[in-house]
Amino acid sequence: MKLFSSVHDVADIHQLVASAISLKQKPYVDEQLGKHKTLGLIFLNPSLRTRLSTQKAALNLGMQVMVMNLDKEGWALETQDGIIMNGTTVEHIREAAGVLGEYCDIIGFRSFPGLVNREEDYSEEIFSKFVKFCGVPVVSLESATRHPLQSLADLITIEELKKTEKPKVVLTWAPHVKPLPQAVANSFAEWMNKADYDFVITHPEGYNLAPEFVGSAIVTNNQDEALAGADFVYVKNWSSYEDYGKMLINDDSWMMTNEKLKLTNNAGVMHCLPVRRGLELSHEILDGPNSLVLNQANNRVWAAQAVLKSILERISLT
Ligand code: CP
Repeated sequence: MKLFSSVHDVADIHQLVASAISLKQKPYVDEQLGKHKTLGLIFLNPSLRTRLSTQKAALNLGMQVMVMNLDKEGWALETQDGIIMNGTTVEHIREAAGVLGEYCDIIGFRSFPGLVNREEDYSEEIFSKFVKFCGVPVVSLESATRHPLQSLADLITIEELKKTEKPKVVLTWAPHVKPLPQAVANSFAEWMNKADYDFVITHPEGYNLAPEFVGSAIVTNNQDEALAGADFVYVKNWSSYEDYGKMLINDDSWMMTNEKLKLTNNAGVMHCLPVRRGLELSHEILDGPNSLVLNQANNRVWAAQAVLKSILERISLT
């Protein structure tokens, strides 16, 4: 693998999950693989889990790691081509990415969507330009439309805990105070479809995800109906794709509670975090036995380590 930006970059997701679970048992088995190799972690947006889990994964592989919050610590970045830079931007992504590629063997890059121009966000313009101009393998740390390291960790969590071959997995919209990207929901849907689970998406009217991410999932606006018999419930807010970037309604009744959990098959409840307690997810669920949020956070390390290992193995062959 030389690019990890979506499920489409992975030849065999089950092999990648098996690699991650194996690394979880023996974290330091490949500590020579990354010796004298440098990982750069470049953030244009905040992070707790992605930053630290990917850093830990790289350290387990013997890599050196450099982290930069480019939005706060770097020069103001220009991403448009062909313009005269006589405004506030100081450095073009062509040079910035190129320079980072000179210092790093692999780069992780995070860039959220603007949620204003759908076409621009869904073209993944900034992420694609970074990949093109840095010239080294890139791992997405969350782009405008996807969060593949999170989705891989989510898949690992389900594979570890599922009791049937093809569990029922429900992705449910949750309330929030501000419009959030569709990236986590898109990406989760993409990976669940690839895993070929019994996959259902439920949300209020107007919150349809882009068809290419919905894929073969069953979609319903009836949350209770969706939750019936679920083995795993993934809770996440997202803003409207159709009325792009807007919050259409903020119906508190969509919050997942213990009462709703009774409709499920004693489901494990998942959220990528950070989570707004009492708004997206109830305190009782987060503090209760069905919460899998820390399992998911733990698996972020092994997801990142499996991906970095795959890339390092490719680098060592060339
Ligand atoms: N889930 C996740 O990506 O968390 P961070 O934004 O804190 O990295």
